[in-house]
Amino acid sequence: MDFEIINGSVETLETECLVVALSANGTLCPSAAAVDKASNGYLSELLNSGDISGKAGEQLLLFKVPGVQARRVLVTGLGKDDERKDRHYRKLIKGITATLKKSGITSVVFALDGCASYRDDIYRTTRQLVEWVSADFYVYDETKSKKADPVKLSSIQILLSEDNTELGEGALLDGVAIANGVDTARELGNLPGNICTPSYLAERALALGEEFDDFEAKILDEDAMAELGMNSLLAVGKGSAQPSRLIVMEYNGGESGDNPHVLVGKGITFDTGGISLKPGAGMDEMKFDMCGAASVIGTMEAIAEMQLPLNVVGIVAAAENMPGSQATKPGDIVTTMSGQTVEILNTDAEGRLVLCDALTYAGRYEPESVIDVATLTGACIIALGHHATGILSNDEDLAGALLDAGDFAADRGWPLPLWDEFQEQLDSNFADIANIGGRPAGTITAACFLSRFTKEYRWAHLDIAGVAWNSHGKEKGATGRCVPMLSQYLLDLAEQVEAAEHDHHHED
Ligand code: BES
Ligand code: MN
Ligand code: ZN
Repeated sequence: MDFEIINGSVETLETECLVVALSANGTLCPSAAAVDKASNGYLSELLNSGDISGKAGEQLLLFKVPGVQARRVLVTGLGKDDERKDRHYRKLIKGITATLKKSGITSVVFALDGCASYRDDIYRTTRQLVEWVSADFYVYDETKSKKADPVKLSSIQILLSEDNTELGEGALLDGVAIANGVDTARELGNLPGNICTPSYLAERALALGEEFDDFEAKILDEDAMAELGMNSLLAVGKGSAQPSRLIVMEYNGGESGDNPHVLVGKGITFDTGGISLKPGAGMDEMKFDMCGAASVIGTMEAIAEMQLPLNVVGIVAAAENMPGSQATKPGDIVTTMSGQTVEILNTDAEGRLVLCDALTYAGRYEPESVIDVATLTGACIIALGHHATGILSNDEDLAGALLDAGDFAADRGWPLPLWDEFQEQLDSNFADIANIGGRPAGTITAACFLSRFTKEYRWAHLDIAGVAWNSHGKEKGATGRCVPMLSQYLLDLAEQVEAAEHDHHHED
């Protein structure tokens, strides 16, 4: 699939399908009005006869509209003025891509004039279009014997005014990069646990190191981790035949002296619960327990593709949580890399056990910020459902930056409190910390656990348990969630760097 920004008069565009829009009060967006004019009021007539009204989600596919070069015109309804939220725009795109797929159309021009979004921001609406169209054409067929038919749609053009072309082209490049990152995250999430093992994730990271300049990946095996004292991470993989891995990806797009921003992902490639075994129903979904890792890998790919002027380190703590004969048992106590001891009261609270050592490792970089991403707690689904990522942080500005980035990228999070009052729930009679804090506020006590290892730097934790995958029906599968939020967070930082450089030049 190829995206392109184009200019020109709507009626002269040669394409198999021209997409235009109108709102529920019957107002034609500029491109639709141009089609109407060129066709001597063809669309007005359809409006008058009630064949189109502009209600949200409406679609009418017209052939050979007089005076218009395009073979088809797809007229779409935007709904009322207050139906221009991200979720309406998302739905509109879903409807359009469904039509494009059904009719096997090979080329399309989107001429929506930015009308479909409530924010008057061509960069944002264009990028969303690119990301969402790409996402709708994602198909998982890696482990099917019959591969999906190749996507017929090959040319996707977005009509913009000449003034907006540069902005649109930037949006397109960023959108494609983020869409690729989302794609990678979904694919890794969807792969089964017997393929997507800690070693497999490591290979994928190494492959990114081959693909991009300024990108290096290194893998720490169990011996190397033991050397560093990562006994908590290693405790999780002990019941598994699959060796654990610490995957470290370094992207150096910034100045060589700049301290990096660090992303840390939970990479439990399957979570049986260990000796604290999970119930059987739906356990297959615990192959998605590496979605945090997948979104870190996907984001690293996206920023490398965008060549952001930042130094970013991605760390994945990868292990398989199994109840083998060597497995860690409830009550076992380990000494973490930080020196703090942990009483493992429940082997199913394993995410925090792998993350704590990875977070201590992250401190070695003297990072500007550290963000970990994890399918950490079922409690987060109870607290925030399937729409919002949980955001917990020791730094209000960082939490705010992630909240804003999520809003902008339509990949939203919501804050939960990380007050000291919750910390006592982790008291242990036998170690410095227990790895569980009881039923109340399970998402917060999990973050409290992590906070014991992040005192030295600005840190935020993203709990993606509710958003990382869909559980039901045809939609069942990984979402790639948090790649857009994280990419946006880093894009915003890159913009600050560029603005500072710009100021600097002016001073000289
Ligand atoms: N990976 C799970 C969390 C999870 C469960 C995410 C279901 C999405 C859907 C995590 O490792 C886990 O098992 N957490 C426990 C923690 C508890 C033992 C304190 C949980 O949430 O029940
Ligand atoms: Mn678990
Ligand atoms: Zn888990």
